[in-house]
Amino acid sequence: MTDRLKGKVAIVTGGGGGMGGAQARRFAEEGSSICVADVNLSAAESVAQMIVQNGGHAVACELDVRDSTAWAGAVQMTEDSFGPVTTLCNNAGANFRVSFDDQTEEQWHTIIEIGLTGAFLGIKAVVQSMRKAGGGVILNMGSLASIRPGGGSPGYAAQKMGMVGLTRAAAASYSKENIRCVIISPGHVDTPFIRGDNSHSPNSWATSIDNPDNYERRLAGTPLGRLQVPDDIANAFLFAASDEGSMITGSMITVDGGSAL
Ligand SMILES: NC(=O)c1ccc[n+]([C@@H]2O[C@H](COP(=O)([O-])OP(=O)(O)OC[C@H]3O[C@@H](n4cnc5c(N)ncnc54)[C@H](O)[C@@H]3O)[C@@H](O)[C@H]2O)c1
Repeated sequence: MTDRLKGKVAIVTGGGGGMGGAQARRFAEEGSSICVADVNLSAAESVAQMIVQNGGHAVACELDVRDSTAWAGAVQMTEDSFGPVTTLCNNAGANFRVSFDDQTEEQWHTIIEIGLTGAFLGIKAVVQSMRKAGGGVILNMGSLASIRPGGGSPGYAAQKMGMVGLTRAAAASYSKENIRCVIISPGHVDTPFIRGDNSHSPNSWATSIDNPDNYERRLAGTPLGRLQVPDDIANAFLFAASDEGSMITGSMITVDGGSAL
């Protein structure tokens, strides 16, 4: 612990999930107070409880990122608990791993609304609070799909490419107010997103990394020779959120073991 985020106040969406949970815990270890926000309240509560048990400061909040009224409530809860928001981590995302032919209109809307519209609404919700704090950092979750779309799920490709544009737009709009915006793009990260069978990210045997063939395929596509774990990505979020990242805005940090090469 080196207090790299001492005095910071973060909202972490998808905070009950693999990568959001790791960010919440890592940020708290470095002195930030955390609002762990997730549509799955019990998952958010587990992460918040763990942080508090370890001596950190956290609250859990039920948030569907598609709902601007719920966003206003999350910001209010965070301000009431810890003061103005300095950091937003937009992790919440969805994917349905099917071909272009098979992607339904409903799947498309779900992917775009959770991943892209949710991040847009989050930025709009926190900016007023960041102004009160004298500045802030918005960290958007990218993907390999933010660099190259791959073979499947056009909705996911559009969402993650869209995140690059959203990041640049926010960075350009708010830099004069000391608000930075960065996109961080992982490769293959061992989380329920690619291992489990969740409503926001269904996996069949063909797409889950529980399937050794699929695991090996992803491993073979990772030059550094291992899949990422959530802390690999949380450490990059931590760097970008800290004052060490104070001259970084509008850009992408890849943490993918070389997968995008
Ligand atoms: N795991 C990977 O290999 C990988 C790689 C690149 C990018 N990503 C991205 O990382 C992000 C987080 O994924 P993860 O791997 O931690 O997955 P995860 O499934 O462990 O976590 C996702 C979390 O988001 C929450 N969520 C879903 N819909 C929501 C909504 N409408 N509002 C609020 N919260 C919602 C879920 O409840 C869950 O806790 C996603 O944006 C995903 O696209 C994942």
